[in-house]
Amino acid sequence: MIHIAIDGPAGAGKSTIARRIAAQIGFIYVDTGALYRAVARYVLCAGVRPEDAPAVTALLPQIELSLRFQNGVQKVCLNGEDVSEAIRTPEVSMAASGVSAIPAVREFLFGLQQKIAQENNVIMDGRDIGTVVLPDAQLKLFLTASAEDRAHRRFEELCAKGQKADYAQVLADIRRRDEQDIRRKTAPLKQAEDAVKVDTSGNTLEQSIALLRGIIREKL
Ligand code: C5P
Repeated sequence: MIHIAIDGPAGAGKSTIARRIAAQIGFIYVDTGALYRAVARYVLCAGVRPEDAPAVTALLPQIELSLRFQNGVQKVCLNGEDVSEAIRTPEVSMAASGVSAIPAVREFLFGLQQKIAQENNVIMDGRDIGTVVLPDAQLKLFLTASAEDRAHRRFEELCAKGQKADYAQVLADIRRRDEQDIRRKTAPLKQAEDAVKVDTSGNTLEQSIALLRGIIREKL
């Protein structure tokens, strides 16, 4: 199987770019952030604080997660319910960053991610794909952009979906999430030594896709 790992901070364009490229080259696109988000949603619904490691760990046996792929589009099911849309809120984003620092949560999701990769050619995105989940991936990319650029993209995404958004708040959330993801002890966000770094600041989506397609053509 061929594995392309894409890591990077929130809002760097990973998912949009990876989804488009996967469709073009016939790979499955796996958005691992959706798994952390689904756990976060369950935790929030249970009234537990995402940072409360013992309480979150105690909830894990109640959680059954699965990913389905319909025409290349990933759907995430939480205890049988499709939560693909419900997990796309700023509250769930922050909570996902909270639960993702808990080693038991990462262990819980590790097997599912590896199983999908064993059975498919994948472009998988997240924070620790090149470093932990798929250390032997044939190609590793680290996608980044300035915090302001990333916040602008997130802000526009939220507005396009009709959600109420405040740019300053989106930027503050992105900075806080970066900080949490980089500083955590287990599987922090970092560039794998053998990853190619791509800075998408100032690029249009089409420019970033063309840039990555070029790297994929050259390296694979
Ligand atoms: O990618 P996305 O923004 O949806 O991820 C939500 C959160 O899940 C991230 O801020 C990060 O804390 C966590 N995450 C992670 N490891 C991954 C994917 C996501 O820790 N592989």
